[in-house]
Amino acid sequence: MDFNQSAEDNLFDHARVIGKPHPRVDGLLKVTGRAPYAYERHNVVANQLVGYPLCATIAKGRITHMDASAARAAPGVAAVVTTAELEPLERAKSNIAHLFGGAKIEHYHQAIAVVVAETLEQAHGAAGLIEVRYEEAPGVFDLEDAFERLQDIGEPQTNVGDVDAALQAAPVTLDAVYRTASQSHAMMEPHASIVDWSEGGQMTVWTSNQMIDTNRQALATTFNIDADTIRVESPYIGGGFGGKLWLRADAVLAALGSRETGRPVKVALPRPMIFNNATHRSGTIQRLRIAAGSDGKITAFDHAAISHTLPGGSGEDAVNQTRCFYAGENRRVAHHPIDMGLPESADMRAPGEASGLAVLEIAMDEMAEKLGMDPVEFRILNDTQVNPEEPSKPFTERHFVECLRKGADTFGWAERNLEPGGRREGQWLIGHGMAGAYRGAPTMTSGARVRLQKGRLIVETDMTDIGTGSYTILTQTAAETMGMEMQDVEVRLGNSAYPTSSGSGGQFGATSTTAGVYAACVALQEQIAKRLNVDEARFENGRVVSGQKDLALADIADGEEIVAEDSINFGDFKDELEIGTFGAHFIEVAVNAYTGETRVRRMLAVCDAGRILNPITARSQVIGGMTMGVGAALTEGMSVDTGRGFFVNHDLAGYEVAVHADIPEQEVIFLETTDAASSPLKAKGVGELGICGVAAAIGNAIYNATGVRIREYPMTLDHMI
Ligand code: MOS
Repeated sequence: MDFNQSAEDNLFDHARVIGKPHPRVDGLLKVTGRAPYAYERHNVVANQLVGYPLCATIAKGRITHMDASAARAAPGVAAVVTTAELEPLERAKSNIAHLFGGAKIEHYHQAIAVVVAETLEQAHGAAGLIEVRYEEAPGVFDLEDAFERLQDIGEPQTNVGDVDAALQAAPVTLDAVYRTASQSHAMMEPHASIVDWSEGGQMTVWTSNQMIDTNRQALATTFNIDADTIRVESPYIGGGFGGKLWLRADAVLAALGSRETGRPVKVALPRPMIFNNATHRSGTIQRLRIAAGSDGKITAFDHAAISHTLPGGSGEDAVNQTRCFYAGENRRVAHHPIDMGLPESADMRAPGEASGLAVLEIAMDEMAEKLGMDPVEFRILNDTQVNPEEPSKPFTERHFVECLRKGADTFGWAERNLEPGGRREGQWLIGHGMAGAYRGAPTMTSGARVRLQKGRLIVETDMTDIGTGSYTILTQTAAETMGMEMQDVEVRLGNSAYPTSSGSGGQFGATSTTAGVYAACVALQEQIAKRLNVDEARFENGRVVSGQKDLALADIADGEEIVAEDSINFGDFKDELEIGTFGAHFIEVAVNAYTGETRVRRMLAVCDAGRILNPITARSQVIGGMTMGVGAALTEGMSVDTGRGFFVNHDLAGYEVAVHADIPEQEVIFLETTDAASSPLKAKGVGELGICGVAAAIGNAIYNATGVRIREYPMTLDHMI
């Protein structure tokens, strides 16, 4: 089905199932241990061996000597595969460093061997017996070394108007440098896979991955085999946040182990290996200059950022949102990834915007203060309904101002203390801060197959549910479209045997895959109408109705299965439009006047993200994003050993994530908007919007509480002095 925007179409506007707060259809399975993660498939995959990875302890150089003989002789060991014995495996296009193979070390904790044994303890113990010697090469590991390049960043990505003239002419300007930290996804379920490559050359992979087809293609490239010989299953996933978008070492090591032993092999990356072996969000240094007239109207933005990457990567593009979030005639934005020797960075929840808005929204607060304006009013004044870089491109639906006003009213913004450091309760300084949120609303081609079996509908698509609620919203979509009850619909996900979907990422999953399932259901309706020899039919109450005909879905085709498959293709008319999601965050913090410890007391988000498919799962997504934003603001930062080139605090003891118990009150309000240009369901994503701007709102609240303006994340106690 080709999707063409049609504002007149009121499809789903009077929905019965879509948009309703249905609890998760997989909830019971989840809480009763019947939704196993990849590593837990004890019963499904017989005769398993366990693989334990060995990782490099230098950041750059070569392996000169590797002796695995003691490991091979250790009890229970079935095989040891070392990198020194293999030609480098091919690199899939989504991987920057090689996942395995060859003597060259590209980053710290790159996998260099896998020990396969009967038990985890035997494999772990034997891995410690492998002798490795290296020849280290020098590397660049400190982003501060590239600070000069931030000051003179070269060619900007966009340059509109005359930024320098506007900065010079403006009565009010800001020029400040900010730093965001490298962060780890720290998802609950570690990277893990079981691979069976023993049977007739077929490779079966039970893994934890956000994008099934991408993963299968990457495995095919890596092992130089035909993708048709690979089956990937990933039905239940304990979080990804972008860390599981791409193929990682767990699956590769398990495949190597299985090829060597002829038995299924499972490998989980131990938590302390994940931070340096897998990907992370790059730290950034950003310089932001803003100019405004004394009326508060912004006349120029100049936003430059650097971030680290391995050669060939793109780093964290922290300037993207500055191109279109606020009005202003003159605009220069530039992001330069800096080639360094730190581990491979890649996407993490709201890549770009999470770190970019963490800075832009503090700068907006600083500007509002210089102008003597309320920060909410300053943002409202500088709202835009068109892309300011390309004024011919309108935003399809942009209700940012409504988010700001609704948030301010609900939160009680008017009652806050205006004097920084001016409100104290015992030893706690109380402050309030706010920030705007923006994130794009991309869509991707997405396919699905539906099978009508005696009044039951099976939906198959290789979409994943990474904790987001995909099972639930796809069940709702199919039930709504086919006029069926949710309990008569069964959604099957995460299997490469099913039609290729968008997968989960970039907050495109919900929008794209509900549209794909809708398309497949429409194809099914057409088939049913054809069988009944009618031009048009209504589907309601589990029945198909056309003229005099009124049949239960269970009774058509004599109980024979009817199968339909289709995918949604989003038209290129979207290139002429700006489609985004918007929000506003309001936060109350308490900062201890003696220790500098910050406590988040109250958070409110107001979101404008098109039709909300399910307010329960959408709210969970936004609250999860907000919680992650608290971590980004206050605790989450990987410290770099700038001499040896690795992240030092590479476990959950040294890298602290925020949890719900840290935040007593969190609320989310969804504006009742729809976006007809986005999808047939007029929906947009929220999974990444929730984190955008949160860190800045906390920084602004800390400033309001203490009078200390912090421009470096995480905002730990030592910055309060
Ligand atoms: Mo997202 S960082 O595209 O999973």
